[in-house]
Amino acid sequence: MNPEELLRTLIRRTGLKPEHIKALRSLEPIAAPMAPEIALAFYDYLGRDPEMHKILWSVPGRVERLYQSFAVWYRELFSGQYDAQYAQGRIRIGLVHARVGVRPSHFIPAVGIVQELTLEHFRNALRGAEMLAAISAFEKVMAVEIALMQESYFNALWEGLKLTQNEQEALKEGARALLEQA
Ligand code: HEM
Repeated sequence: MNPEELLRTLIRRTGLKPEHIKALRSLEPIAAPMAPEIALAFYDYLGRDPEMHKILWSVPGRVERLYQSFAVWYRELFSGQYDAQYAQGRIRIGLVHARVGVRPSHFIPAVGIVQELTLEHFRNALRGAEMLAAISAFEKVMAVEIALMQESYFNALWEGLKLTQNEQEALKEGARALLEQA
């Protein structure tokens, strides 16, 4: 399935409707300024796990670069532009993680942290019905993100198993091959 088609399917399956997209866009002025703060808290959380600490700090300047990349990713959640470019970008991000040895068991709990940090901010900024609409829309877009990420990993593994039978290596090598083809 191509990324755009996959995204369309996920939008339908999660029930991400025009009213949710409108809600996400209307959250952008609140969410965009929060992105750097969320990025700081996010990498602080990741760094407390020994395995993830090693991945992140093994390359000089990596975390500093990631603060920026994460903030861009975060703002795009509220862009309302969930199109081919969005889908390709998200698939690519999934492959970048697979290539550096970040596994779903690292990634999925980290998604939970993004949700927790975001809900804390929403709680401070929003009230009543506005808050419920924000949570519902945000949960849907995050479900789309998780599914895109999982599909990236699956594609990388599938590709990599043509090259090696070692699962860890297959994931990395498959991701590398797909990133080169892109
Ligand atoms: C919600 C979860 C996460 C998000 C949104 C996220 C976001 C990103 C983004 C946007 C990039 C840049 C990709 C590119 O080059 O195009 C990236 C790269 C990366 N991420 Fe994550 N990430 C997440 C989870 C994690 C976790 C759990 C780890 C574990 C250590 C991690 C480690 C890395 C590493 C090592 C890179 C490559 C950095 C480099 O280019 O040297 N990420 N991430």
